Amino acid sequence: MADSRETELRRDAFVTGWPIKHSRSPIIHNHWLARYGLPGSYRAEAVQADDFAAFFSALKEGGPYRGGNVTIPHKEAACRLADRRDDIAEELGAANTVWLEDGRLTATNTDPFGFTANLNQQHPGWERTARVVILGAGGASRAVIQAVRDRGIGEIHVVNRTVSRARELADRFGARIHAHGLEALPEVMQGAGLFVNTTSLGMDGGEAMELNFTALSSNAVVTDLVYVPLVTPLLQQAHDQGLATVDGLGMLLHQAAPGFEKWFGIRPSVDEDLRRLVIADMERHA
Ligand code: ATR
Repeated sequence: MADSRETELRRDAFVTGWPIKHSRSPIIHNHWLARYGLPGSYRAEAVQADDFAAFFSALKEGGPYRGGNVTIPHKEAACRLADRRDDIAEELGAANTVWLEDGRLTATNTDPFGFTANLNQQHPGWERTARVVILGAGGASRAVIQAVRDRGIGEIHVVNRTVSRARELADRFGARIHAHGLEALPEVMQGAGLFVNTTSLGMDGGEAMELNFTALSSNAVVTDLVYVPLVTPLLQQAHDQGLATVDGLGMLLHQAAPGFEKWFGIRPSVDEDLRRLVIADMERHA
């Protein structure tokens, strides 16, 4: 009896990508499953690009999964192949979270939520500014542009080494987005209240960029989507120049919460225990 009830309540979710073995999502979701005492699992599924469409359509056949996370290189395919997608995923052209609803695979992208929720938690009031500078124009930049635009910020400056990619995003996300090359940084940083790095600069001890943050507004905040290392060279510079900083690990933790709720029925909280757990894993693999 207990066994059949457990089977009935049991839910499973996945994260798929290629490669997938370094994903920290299993640590996050299995921590929440244990904390809330829920029967179920969250597992990594290594799926190559050529096999993704078959993996995705098998989900609809009623296998073990309620849904899951999708990461590189499948985010665009997941958005395209889903039976339906919300406005967030539609505009980004990429999905990171899917679930079965009435037998239909439904997709969203929780990165913009993760970005906003992290800043809300670590630096409340961050959105009270008229100007934001976003460095980079790749996939991660899109999520940040959408998030800050949807908080109503008036002027969003996207600065990128390849200016044509920044222009594409300005065309896509609307009139409040302005595109620039790197040479415009000193000018657009004047008086800005938020600076976001969405490039891979500074990741894992890689090449960094020297920046003068003193032109930002005195109560500005600087954040970096790179979270390995936790204090990136860019955050260190900003801190040394007297600016408030928020690291990028919180975005990873917060973006996971809406998916967990869809699959397992509880909105989990992002707290210090979870943060410490993920930092310990980062240190083990440093
Ligand atoms: P993601 O999807 O993670 O955002 P991406 O699409 O490869 O990754 O984008 C990487 C971003 O980092 C781009 O904005 C890239 O600039 P380009 O569009 O000019 O390539 C930026 N980037 C990577 N290395 C850089 C470097 N050494 N200097 C400046 N920008 C860099």
